[in-house]
Amino acid sequence: MSRVAVFGAGYVGLVTGACFAELGHEVTIRDVLPERIDALRRGEVPIFEPGLEELLARNADRLTYTLDVAEAVRDADFLYVAVGTPPTYSGDADLSAVWTVVDELRGLEQPAALVMKSTVPVGTGATVRHRLDDAGLGHVGYVSNPEFTAEGNAIRDFQHPDRIVIGAFDAAHGDAVAELHRGIDGPIVRCDVASAEMIKLAANAALMTRISFINEIANVCEATGADVVRVAEGIGLDSRIGPSFLRAGIGYGGSCFPKDSLALKQLAASSGYHFQLLNAVIEVNELQKRRVIGKLKRHLGSLRGTSVALLGLAFKPNTDDTREAPSLVLAGRLAAEGATVRAWDPIVDGQAILPQATIHASPLEALAGVDAAVLVTEWPELAEVDWTEAARTMSNALLVDGRNMLDPAELRAAGFVYEGIGRNGQ
Ligand code: UDX
Repeated sequence: MSRVAVFGAGYVGLVTGACFAELGHEVTIRDVLPERIDALRRGEVPIFEPGLEELLARNADRLTYTLDVAEAVRDADFLYVAVGTPPTYSGDADLSAVWTVVDELRGLEQPAALVMKSTVPVGTGATVRHRLDDAGLGHVGYVSNPEFTAEGNAIRDFQHPDRIVIGAFDAAHGDAVAELHRGIDGPIVRCDVASAEMIKLAANAALMTRISFINEIANVCEATGADVVRVAEGIGLDSRIGPSFLRAGIGYGGSCFPKDSLALKQLAASSGYHFQLLNAVIEVNELQKRRVIGKLKRHLGSLRGTSVALLGLAFKPNTDDTREAPSLVLAGRLAAEGATVRAWDPIVDGQAILPQATIHASPLEALAGVDAAVLVTEWPELAEVDWTEAARTMSNALLVDGRNMLDPAELRAAGFVYEGIGRNGQ
């Protein structure tokens, strides 16, 4: 059993803390937001992540929440950093929360390992190492142990990882972090710190590249009469390619991909390299979100005075996260075109993020009287909608299925003009 301090009670910190507690370790989670710590102490989880509340409750006697650094680090063997690293105005990662944690460790007496879970630019570990040494903390080790958890599936991803990446300056600290994961079955990749940092950025870049690739194939399918769903199936069965992350749609969003792609682009640029492919991946994604507007205009002409329903606001299902969600870009573009926006999402607080839109309690209610609907997030609830009834309630039964979730033939039979992304209607 080890003692683990986790800095940051966001998605990553809470999942990391809960999963280490489940393994039997004593975990103290520290955050700077008093309301967040108070809520956690009351047993309330401030974010939506399936299974997290239960996991935290089940391990409550091994979990402590605090605002106090001294309490968090007391006797800790591991100091996990899981603070946010949002993009700055220049697109670089803002590491100020990381530096605050490093500075707060001043005076720490016991040997411990500082473990970086937050996504940081390559070279951050080396800078932290110097900063620790300058602060007289040579006895504190440094390990990069990036997270690969997808929101909505984070606990499963942590407990059944494809791999655990451990990059350390000193092998003993790497061994200790590997031992901390005992009980979790998954291959361990041991490497130097810079490579561990790059693995995280490169893995995300590879996934985004696949999404922008299949989205461009979808756009060419639309121009040529092929169906991207069949195409993705056909290429995904090639064992060298594989089937995941080949779902065409209205672009990726979320807290990681957009931010990490910008950070990698800036990291390359600052190192004197123009990362042409990544630039294209980012640009394709931006354009992909906007293509929906073109589809609506093709059917409706000008959007001025029309009303459009957005079905789903989260950047993907099973999360309340709307960071960089295509819904925000769409709502903004629709407003700029003079359309009014109605919206439904089963868990996102729509009014908070889209003050000009009207928010509705069910898909059918959001669809009442609209000129078009856009399926933005593939919430399972949308598979249950009575689309024949929906077509009747809309003033014009046009649906742009931004996630290729529904069956085009069924929707057409229900009375819809159906447009997917890269679909020919087969
Ligand atoms: C991602 C990575 O998967 C995870 O490893 C990393 O740690 C953080 O970033 P997350 O952002 O939670 O996780 O979601 P993910 O399920 O990967 O989806 C990202 C975005 O890509 C979503 O907007 C999703 O809709 C989109 N996507 C995904 C596609 O458009 N097509 C696909 O085939 C897959």
